[in-house]
Amino acid sequence: MSLVTAIYAVLFYAATILLVVGLAYRIRLYAKTPAPLKIPTTPAPVTKGGVVWRMFREVVFFQSLFKANKWTWLFGWIFHFSLLLVLLRHIRYFQEPVWFWVGWVQPFGKYAAFGMVIGLAGLWGRRFLVDRVRYISAPSDHLMLALLLAIGLSGLGMYYVWHTDIIALKAFFLGLMRFDWQPLPADPVLLIHLALVATLMIIFPISKLLHAPGVFFSPTRNQVDNPREQRHLAPWAAELEKQG
Ligand code: HEM
Repeated sequence: MSLVTAIYAVLFYAATILLVVGLAYRIRLYAKTPAPLKIPTTPAPVTKGGVVWRMFREVVFFQSLFKANKWTWLFGWIFHFSLLLVLLRHIRYFQEPVWFWVGWVQPFGKYAAFGMVIGLAGLWGRRFLVDRVRYISAPSDHLMLALLLAIGLSGLGMYYVWHTDIIALKAFFLGLMRFDWQPLPADPVLLIHLALVATLMIIFPISKLLHAPGVFFSPTRNQVDNPREQRHLAPWAAELEKQG
């Protein structure tokens, strides 16, 4: 067993634990944070079903971003949709046999890599070109974009130029999951791609990327607009009322 294999094996175990535990912790915090007031952004749905539909439009089409800014919406949506396809395409590295539909997405995932890079380039360009956005951009805003772009470019590099041994790579990850370590191909671009991915996994639970689970807990989006029909009483306020 080479040192590189051992280092990456430990790195991915650690990154997976940090990602899963960190995300679970954050989501628990979001779920427990009180939402004392009725503050849905109007016009808002007046039924639960309506809220589900609103959330669907928000998550799938980025509706409020569309209303706010067409360029940001365009690049943002291209990036996220492409990322989804790329991630679905990657599932094949972690299972044997591969689900039939993971086979179907392979050709789309390939083009999605370009979508991902174009979307990220647009979003990053905006942080330099639009004065008011440049002014409020923190280093972490730039670094997250740089990290994602570097992952996409190293992935594309592997696909088109510096090929790696996919069979051996897959054996490595299946081996990690079965606690039966297999050698990892020591190709530099693969090692870069994987190190960047592990970095992403580790910082995800302490980064702005938490907006992904966070959107579901946003009171302006997930509340029913029925303050007159039904009195809004947060659980902690109900407790106080009982005592009083
Ligand atoms: C442990 C996780 C990952 C492994 C093992 C992995 C491995 C690979 C490999 C081997 C390729 C080359 C594919 C080929 O030549 O056919 C690739 C490509 C790529 N990767 Fe990853 N990757 C991982 C995670 C990610 C993540 C999280 C992202 C995005 C944030 C990403 C983005 C890309 C892109 C855009 C490509 C180029 C298009 C494609 O071949 O799908 N990868 N990856």
